[in-house]
Amino acid sequence: MEGRYLLAIETSCDETAVAICDRCELKIISHAVFSQIDLHALYGGVVPEIAARSHVEKIDFIVTKALNQAGLKLEQIDLFAVTVTPGLVGSLLVGISFAKGLAWSMKKPLLGIDHLEGHLFSSYLKEDGTICPIIYPALTLSMSGGHTALYFQEEADSYTVIGKTIDDAAGEAFDKVGKMLGLPYPGGPYIEKEAQSVGIKDFFNYPRVHLKDKPLHFSFSGLKTAVMYDMARRGFYDLTNFQCTPHITENDKKEVASSLLACIADICVATVERALMQHPQTKTICFVGGVACNSYIRSRLLELCQKRDMQFIVPRPLFCVDNAAMIAVVAHYKALKGELDTLELDALKR
Ligand code: KG4
Ligand code: ZN
Repeated sequence: MEGRYLLAIETSCDETAVAICDRCELKIISHAVFSQIDLHALYGGVVPEIAARSHVEKIDFIVTKALNQAGLKLEQIDLFAVTVTPGLVGSLLVGISFAKGLAWSMKKPLLGIDHLEGHLFSSYLKEDGTICPIIYPALTLSMSGGHTALYFQEEADSYTVIGKTIDDAAGEAFDKVGKMLGLPYPGGPYIEKEAQSVGIKDFFNYPRVHLKDKPLHFSFSGLKTAVMYDMARRGFYDLTNFQCTPHITENDKKEVASSLLACIADICVATVERALMQHPQTKTICFVGGVACNSYIRSRLLELCQKRDMQFIVPRPLFCVDNAAMIAVVAHYKALKGELDTLELDALKR
């Protein structure tokens, strides 16, 4: 194997993250992150220009922090990897330019990594950062603020997207309803907290969208609209200024959050069950991406796996949200196959 230490950079959205992987020990030995959530919270969503500028300000510091945590000097890094797509182009360019600079000045190889492959292979990351392949065939449900997809993998090397969202991502549904309820950004964790406080029951029976002609695909945009009109009908929401009315109580908000979570969890379980009918040979189910931090959806999928005697894998929350450890995992296996890139690497290209 060529090269022991791999440094991976992830700047596709609103996290500046750097991880270092010891490829001999197959372990992530350091992981440093600067989260921009506080910068964007003011605006209720990610502002691309602010995101790119913040990456520029922080990347040097975060790379140094990761090196210090690992007790390594830059000269000891053997390989550099960076997320190249998908993401906000300005943000991606910061990471790519920085990684190119490092690879060029240290005269070391460079690898461009797909962010979604990163999430897909985050299921290899154990609690302590050890990298351990999963048992195949596997089904992976990947849900975040930017994407929603269902993958079937016969083997590690061959994956197929068998389902995806036709409009909004699952995380977006949480974030948009969170915004309607006046919760802080990003809404997902706050919706979960509100829902947990009333025991997660289905009060309002929001529609479980099931696309009959595309049974493994998702649609969350209609759900968000359905919640908005249902809230308006109950006098909770004013459609003229897109704000909650003074009539909505704290308890009403909890019931909306709870009903949304119950609905999305049902959609996840039902879609995975339909996928299993098409792929009965599946041995492992993985749940990855920021939404996989949700303990209620985790518990519902775990229940499904226990009933069918299948393995259920969900990374620790740090490795569910955007992180550089998952980029390092993909880069490690690409490097093993000799799939190195050149300094021609560019944002949004694979
Ligand atoms: O993977 P991620 O950090 O970034 C993207 O690639 O988009 O995912 C962020 C998304 C946000 O939409 C956030 O609301 C959602 O993950 N999220 C959650 C929870 N924690 C984060 N959604 C539901 N429940 C949670 N506990
Ligand atoms: Zn992501």
